[in-house]
Amino acid sequence: MIVAGTATQTLAGELAAEAGRDLATVTTKRFPDGERYVRVEDDLETAIVVASTVSDEDHVELIQLQDAAREAGADRITTVIPYLGYARQDRAFDSGEAVSSRALARAISTGTDRVLTVTPHETAVCEYFDVPTTAIDGSQVLAGPLPELTDPVFLAPDEGATDLAVTVRDAYGGGETDFFRKTRQSGDEVSIEPSDASVADRDVVLVDDIIATGSTMAQSVDILTDREARRVFVTCVHPLLARNAYSKLVRAGVAAVYGTDSIERTVSDVSVAPVIADHLE
Ligand code: R5P
Repeated sequence: MIVAGTATQTLAGELAAEAGRDLATVTTKRFPDGERYVRVEDDLETAIVVASTVSDEDHVELIQLQDAAREAGADRITTVIPYLGYARQDRAFDSGEAVSSRALARAISTGTDRVLTVTPHETAVCEYFDVPTTAIDGSQVLAGPLPELTDPVFLAPDEGATDLAVTVRDAYGGGETDFFRKTRQSGDEVSIEPSDASVADRDVVLVDDIIATGSTMAQSVDILTDREARRVFVTCVHPLLARNAYSKLVRAGVAAVYGTDSIERTVSDVSVAPVIADHLE
């Protein structure tokens, strides 16, 4: 049975339908002091716990769901983390810093036999888990919501996203690919060094793994607009869209924003359930 986290209900439902599994009844409530109570009400033999870890609360709930699944009888647990939070702090950038992705991976590993995650920021974070862990490529579904495009360029806003742009181009069925170079100044400030891509009168699809503050995408849209791109579409696997990220993109003049349901947002136009289902045992 599928055991769904509070923040991942839609995707868990899609996955249940896609994989032909039942959804377990999960009760959560708050104690007066704010702590969360979690109970799985069905008897389980195996469990697929599905929970993105967007917030600290999601992390705590995930660990509780794993424990509740064991208490409900599951002798094998697969943990599906469509969006793996803290993946960007994947090393100590300064002395004394927590390697947050490693710390959380170790904690999650204690409650599961296997982990599946979708397009983590760096695939190498899978090695921090103490159980077999697979990174599934979520970018393969991103071409789905795109309209018909005119002479398209699939553009990565930094070099690290080039493979994603190529995957989306291939899934769309044609077009050029290119990439910009990005330097991050602070949490929400970046500088983009554009390539000499010729985009005038062409549709451009920007592809990244995640939109967090929206600075990377908004600056890229600005550059492309200055270069007279016909329309600029923004697509990503994980539409985190923190704070005013969405309005930044609208102000920059984006034609549309598309993301997957790894994080439930209004732009979550396409589901990663089919690609996750392919990896279930
Ligand atoms: C960074 O390397 C990632 O691939 C994204 O480009 C980045 O996290 C996006 O962040 P933001 O939306 O805050 O610019």
